[in-house]
Order: sequence, then C-alpha cells, then structure tokens
Amino acid sequence: MPVDTDSRLPLLRIERFDQGAAAPILAPKVRDALAQIVDERSHRDQLLRAGLAPSRAALFVGPPGVGKTMAAGWIAQSLGVPLAILDLSSVMSSLLGKTGINLRYAFDYAKQSECVLFLDELDAIAKRRGDDSDVGELKRLVTVLLQQIDDWPSSAGLVLGATNHPDLLDPAVWRRFDTSVPFDVPGIELRAQAIERFGDGMLTPVSVATLAASTDGASFSDLERQILRLRRNAVIHETSAAQLEDAVLADVRKLDLPERLRIAMALNGSGRSQRQISSITGISRDTLRKHLART
Ligand SMILES: Nc1ncnc2c1ncn2[C@@H]1O[C@H](COP(=O)(O)OP(=O)(O)OP(=O)(O)O)[C@@H](O)[C@H]1O
Ligand SMILES: [Mg+2]
Repeated sequence: MPVDTDSRLPLLRIERFDQGAAAPILAPKVRDALAQIVDERSHRDQLLRAGLAPSRAALFVGPPGVGKTMAAGWIAQSLGVPLAILDLSSVMSSLLGKTGINLRYAFDYAKQSECVLFLDELDAIAKRRGDDSDVGELKRLVTVLLQQIDDWPSSAGLVLGATNHPDLLDPAVWRRFDTSVPFDVPGIELRAQAIERFGDGMLTPVSVATLAASTDGASFSDLERQILRLRRNAVIHETSAAQLEDAVLADVRKLDLPERLRIAMALNGSGRSQRQISSITGISRDTLRKHLART
C-alpha cells in the first residue's frame, strides 16, 4: 500500500463493498450514464479486440450529499473490484515538493491492482491555488496529475473523479475525462423514494409524501439525517407510524401560509386528492381550489 514517506500516512484508502449493498437512488439519466460506464468496463476485452477502448475516466459533478462517492462504490461493486480512494488532502499535506512523488506512488499502485481509482474532491487542488506560496507546487501537482491520467492504460482499471466545484477545476484536468456525469439534488419523486428507503417501514405513505413535498432543495444526505432523527425519536418515545404521521403533519401546520401553499402545490403535482392535501396542509379546500385555479 503506498504511503507518504515522511508521515507514513496511506495515500490510498481501499474500500470493498458487500455484494448487494443498496444501489444509489438516481435520476434515469444518471443511472443510464453509470450503466454505460459499467457495461463498457465489463466488455473491455471485447471492445479492445474490436479496436475500441472503453472509457477510461469519468468525472462526477454535483453538490455535496447527492451520491457521487456512493455511485463510485456502486460501480466498483458492480465490477467486482475494490474502490481505491486517493486522499488528495493527505497527498497534499505532505512536504512541499513531494506531492508529485506521492501522486505517482498512488497511481502506480492503482495501475497494477484490479480496482476503480477514485479521485475524490478534485477541486481541493484548485482551491489551494489562492495560496501564493504553493503556486509552483500546485502547478507541478496538476502537471503530474495530467500526465498520470494521460499515461493511464485502457487495460488498467477505471478512473473516477468527483468535484463540487467544476468551475474551480483546471480545464486541462476536465478535458482528461471521457465523460462527465452531472449529479443533482433530488426532485420530489426521488426524495419520496429516498425517504421511503431511509424510513425503513416506519413512515406511512402520507408521511413520505408530506416529507417529500416539504424538503425542496434537500440533498439525499440531508434527507437521511432528518429521517434517522425521526426514527431515533420514534424509538425513544415508542411512537407508532400513525403517531409519527401526526407529528409530521403537526410540523407542516406550524409553517406559514405561503410555505404550506408551496407544499400543497407539490402534493397536487404528485397526484394527491384535494381532500388529502387539505387535511395534510390545513388549508381549506376553498382556498386550495382558488389557488390551484390561479396557477
Ligand atoms: N443517490 C443516493 N441514493 C441513496 N442514498 C444517498 C444518495 N446520495 C447520498 N446518499 C446518502 O448520503 C450519504 C452521503 O452521500 P455521498 O457521500 O455519496 O455524497 P457525495 O455526493 O459524495 O457528497 P460530497 O460531495 O460531500 O462528497 C451516502 O452514504 C448515502 O447514505
Ligand atoms: Mg463524496
């Protein structure tokens, strides 16, 4: 295992995934893009025989907590290989002048072992660029990174990268990736799927729909945190699913009218009847009807 020669900190973290770990919940477009990557990889020899190389490198772009790291793990699992995560912060925290060597160690190791190499938080390199004392070192680091990706043989494993800040990423780095896959915060339908999964049977359909309608803009990991808190409270206070639903609805009723109207509109869009929406949001059916007619 490659380590930083001074600190002896590992430069790669190897993660193995249980077969059958839950797949990330993804928009159809993202799911298709990932399936294509897996397909190309699992037919690598066939492609090479036909004179075609499978995609070598893909970049996952998106805000925190939407499944980029989870998707990298899922791809590795689908291919039956471990995920080797390059810890850019430990690569870069080492002595000046050594990051390039560290990067080479890490890539050499990954090249020789059957794995998916995951370059997490690629923008960490770019973010440091503001720090003047580091400019030369960072330039070298980017150069080495580009070289390593360029020299990466198609016959070696897949390289995946992830970033929250595509705008901070060096365009030259960006170009090295065959595909970029945009991850995004989930819409109401994916939120409902995620809430159902995280709820693990503790939430009624009304609770799921209400929580999904009232969490616009939340990431999957925001939702997971919120639902786990509900479940912990439910266990502590021995709450039934029905009582939990009452608590979820009570929370909605506390919101001001514009917010409740927004939730009502979202519920309307996901196919709830006006009577149900009225009972969930506490908005009279009259008001609801008028508002719906206006929009
Ligand atoms: N698409 C998803 N489907 C199901 N669960 C998800 C999904 N995305 C995130 N989660 C949950 O949130 C946790 C954190 O997600 P993950 O680490 O994959 O996010 P990320 O996009 O890599 O975020 P960051 O940019 O902060 O690294 C996951 O371990 C999982 O429990
Ligand atoms: Mg991540």
